[in-house]
Amino acid sequence: MTRFDARYYERFYGDADGVHDPAQIAHLATAVHELCSWWGTAPETVLDVGAGVGMWRDWYRRTHPTVHVLSVDVSPYACERWGHELRDIATWAPAEPHDLVICHGVVHYLDDLAAEAAIDHLGAATSVVMYLELPTAHDLAEVVDPDRTDMAVHHRSGEWYRSRLARHFRQVGAGLWVKHGTVPMFELEAATGSG
Ligand SMILES: C[S@@+](CC[C@H](N)C(=O)[O-])C[C@H]1O[C@@H](n2cnc3c(N)ncnc32)[C@H](O)[C@@H]1O
Repeated sequence: MTRFDARYYERFYGDADGVHDPAQIAHLATAVHELCSWWGTAPETVLDVGAGVGMWRDWYRRTHPTVHVLSVDVSPYACERWGHELRDIATWAPAEPHDLVICHGVVHYLDDLAAEAAIDHLGAATSVVMYLELPTAHDLAEVVDPDRTDMAVHHRSGEWYRSRLARHFRQVGAGLWVKHGTVPMFELEAATGSG
């Protein structure tokens, strides 16, 4: 049994004190989808990596039923209960890239080698935009509420992640990363670098 079992999802998603809920994800998903549309790349294919209870996938099904969403997770329990494909992003990338890749609260669970491989697979999986959320060592020390957050994760610096993500993406901000060579950004529209 992996750590991602029924007790894990009950602990972090089971009640009002959970890490986030469908109403909050609806705000975030609306913003991400609409920003992609503003950039002229309204997603038609979406990959949700580490989908967990499936909030992103459910939002897309409800609000954009024509968008093709593939949800994957490494947890046999989550796949059985919420209907995802069983995949480990450290060892797998889809055969075809997706317009939008969601990776919300996942990569900090992987050790350094697996996390680096996962970032390369996320790069290969994304044709235009990725939404990435994870807490860095700074966030775990200074930002998150330890009573509502899984603290038994890998504590790595923002620079550790940025240097690896920069091989594939330009950081826009607010969790959005644009694949190199896709959306041209105004200089002050993106946080770092060039396309
Ligand atoms: C904190 S939950 C996030 C769930 C969902 N993304 C959300 O934000 O509500 C972390 C999820 O990542 C999954 N996960 C962890 N390691 C993974 C891996 N190597 N490949 C795919 N999924 C993974 C876990 O099984 C778990 O469902």
